[in-house]
Amino acid sequence: MTKTSARRRVYLDYSATTPVAPEVVQAMQPYLTDLFGNAASLHEFGREAAAALDEAHIVTGCALGARASEIVFTGCGTEADNLALRGAAFAARQHGRGDHIISAPTEHHAVTSTLEQLQQLFGFEVTFLPVDGCGRVDPDDVKRALRRNTILVSIMMANNEIGTLEPIAEIGHMCRERGVIFHTDAVQCPAYLPIDVEALQVDLMALSSHKFYGPKGVGILYIREGTPFVPTLTGGGHERGRRAGTVNVAGAVGTAVALEYVAQQRETQAPRLQRLRDRLIEGVLAAVPDARVSGHPHNRLPHHASFVFKGVDGETLLMALDVEGIAVSTGSACTSGNPEPSPVLLAMGIPSEWALGGLRISLGYHTSDEDLDYVLEKLPRCVAQVRRAMSEL
Ligand SMILES: Cc1ncc(COP(=O)(O)O)c(C=O)c1O
Repeated sequence: MTKTSARRRVYLDYSATTPVAPEVVQAMQPYLTDLFGNAASLHEFGREAAAALDEAHIVTGCALGARASEIVFTGCGTEADNLALRGAAFAARQHGRGDHIISAPTEHHAVTSTLEQLQQLFGFEVTFLPVDGCGRVDPDDVKRALRRNTILVSIMMANNEIGTLEPIAEIGHMCRERGVIFHTDAVQCPAYLPIDVEALQVDLMALSSHKFYGPKGVGILYIREGTPFVPTLTGGGHERGRRAGTVNVAGAVGTAVALEYVAQQRETQAPRLQRLRDRLIEGVLAAVPDARVSGHPHNRLPHHASFVFKGVDGETLLMALDVEGIAVSTGSACTSGNPEPSPVLLAMGIPSEWALGGLRISLGYHTSDEDLDYVLEKLPRCVAQVRRAMSEL
């Protein structure tokens, strides 16, 4: 099909996914064609794939300050979170170590839904801590919530919806002193922030390749050596018995190269994106009445801007921007025409007439000033248009 119009398209949803970097595609290509062996096979084809997989573990470990043996490749970030939480919880159950878990209502569904299942079907008790108006967990609240039977704390490194950074190292340090396993979902971070598992004091950490210019369908679970862990995807002995299933060798190779790629880019991209992001925030707040930034004003991911607009349905605004060729996302889920305010925004104490109007604009390595000029021209008009339409309902 040929394109009939040259409509401008601006992608500003890099927190949802990123394009695969050309060097990543190039590195993966041989493992999709000539070097297609199963890394678990004993013959030469298998050994070639196994060597590439070993190298991917080494490179990935180095990029995160971890050992190669502490890296497990999974099918996505969601799977990494699931394995981390169930793996640690089931190990605690196996050894009768306790059944209390601490987390926050602002976590990604990959964490909250897994914890709810552990609570409802497996009898674990979960404390969801309050967050402040910026979505931050207070480390003192974690300290107060720790009990003798606490086995696991799970707090994300950066929030996907509001961009707020959590005090991970502080919480990690406290957990380590108390001998409690600490998991962090750092899925949103590697393209913008350096990650070192020792500095963060984490025992478990989930990442997802497609958020840092790698392929979709590959996640990473870091499991610190000595962390009690029961595999919950059972079958063969892949990934040192911690995640059964034939490994996606091309995906693992691409993920390792993507981590190297973002490590090279981060130093120049993070300040560049922060400048663009701040320009966007200032422009939106100046041009749109009844608009606020959601999440922390400074202590947030450098590429991430999020807003709430009073009396605006976020999904309707998203669609109005889509008509203009601008791709962004919203935190509120619209179920059968019945818009629900975002649970993350509600947990932060944002009133529901504002929480319905959540919008996330996430910038990436390819975002330019011209892209933002276009958004700053269109967004105020789209908000006014949606407000007019809603007032006529
Ligand atoms: C914070 C966070 N955790 C987990 C996930 C899930 O990752 P994946 O899409 O690889 O399953 C996402 C995806 O948006 C995320 O933002």
